[in-house]
Amino acid sequence: MLIAKIGGAMEFYVCAKCGYVAFDVPAEVCPICGAKKDAFKLDKNAIKKPVDPNNLSELEKKHIPLLKIERKCGLINSGCLDVNIKIGEITHPMQQEHFIMYIDVYLDKNFIARYHLTPEKLNPALGIHLKVGSGKLLVLENCNLHGRWIKEEML
Ligand SMILES: [Fe+2]
Repeated sequence: MLIAKIGGAMEFYVCAKCGYVAFDVPAEVCPICGAKKDAFKLDKNAIKKPVDPNNLSELEKKHIPLLKIERKCGLINSGCLDVNIKIGEITHPMQQEHFIMYIDVYLDKNFIARYHLTPEKLNPALGIHLKVGSGKLLVLENCNLHGRWIKEEML
């Protein structure tokens, strides 16, 4: 069973320019678009939560990221930890009118990457190669119709 937990009383500050979400406190400077702190607005509903994590609806199953952590990659000899990300236990559509716009990745609530996805050409999936081997990984996806959803997992 998939369970998406949003730990504690996390607060979300959203960049008005690019939609980047900072956790707990607004960023001094947006790591994606460079907007200043005053561009960030507190939005408690910035990230959707499942109504009942033990009994997900079809909409929730299509949007909550699935993470598959592989400890033996081999692509980078000095150390590489693969995380394969798929959007949705039920695979999310990737059509012009309904698609995953981007996937943001954080480690211990600190931003590490944004990946933009193109509809029609890509599946709603991503493989990343981490240089670090521990911490709490947080993956956030943004659907053009249904908003932001997250999944957290310890490495
Ligand atoms: Fe969607």
